[in-house]
Amino acid sequence: MSLIDGKAAAAAITEAIASDVAARGIKPGLAVVLVGDNPASKVYVANKTKTANRCGFHSVQHTLPGTTTEAELLSLVDTLNADPAIHGILVQLPLPDGLDSARVISAIKPEKDADGLHVVNAGKLTVGDPTAIVPCTPKGSMHLVKSVLGDDLSSLNAVVIGRSRLVGLPMALLLAKANATATIAHSRTKDIADLCRTADILVAAVGRPEMVRGDWIKPGATVIDVGINRIADPSAPKGSRLVGDVAFAEAAERAAHITPVPGGVGPMTIAMLMQNTLEAALASA
Ligand code: GUN
Repeated sequence: MSLIDGKAAAAAITEAIASDVAARGIKPGLAVVLVGDNPASKVYVANKTKTANRCGFHSVQHTLPGTTTEAELLSLVDTLNADPAIHGILVQLPLPDGLDSARVISAIKPEKDADGLHVVNAGKLTVGDPTAIVPCTPKGSMHLVKSVLGDDLSSLNAVVIGRSRLVGLPMALLLAKANATATIAHSRTKDIADLCRTADILVAAVGRPEMVRGDWIKPGATVIDVGINRIADPSAPKGSRLVGDVAFAEAAERAAHITPVPGGVGPMTIAMLMQNTLEAALASA
């Protein structure tokens, strides 16, 4: 079994972006918006802002209280849409109750939608338009898949567990585009373990701690674990620890390649956000 080192891959990408930005003498601008105080979101947003700074971007973070109204949030999005120094806008999800994330994401100018979540970008990805901005987590996950299996996934079966707009759906499209035979599994799938055992590439994106067991893994498979779940662990210093959607130790006995949690897909999501922002800045020039 070989570990897919997302942390190292992401560091190489962000270093290359920093060099490119310096060589071109440009200043891509990324605005990250956090509403409320979801503890996981706070950590993710802080990492995004920090990485943007390291890439030499113009990096701004807007932290709004959980009591923010939709009108106030939409007004901030309008301001960022109109700001020529900002090329990428990311509104961290989930939003607090009462704020309609679909409406907020739709308000972002598609060309500044660094997250690739706007319907225009989702549609472009679906029809194969090369100007689509691709959501960061599936884009980063594909990068890892291709790093071990190459660009052409012909004849390989891929199973994606999860059908979210953020990860599962776009991931299945990207796998199919790379010639894999892609299947989407979800909570209503019958005999999900049997289906997973057919997967040369298994992507777990459900947010259920260690749901995928070792005997779900086809021997020799490539396993991409998108889940980041905090579970109680009295023996850990914080009283809790992070696990993925895959029972790592069991799966590692059968997989040929597997991503760890943390240090797998997570850092790649942030690296792809930087890449999307850089591409948006170049496209706007
Ligand atoms: N919450 C978890 N992952 C993401 C992401 O990639 N983008 C946004 N906006 N929110 C998230």
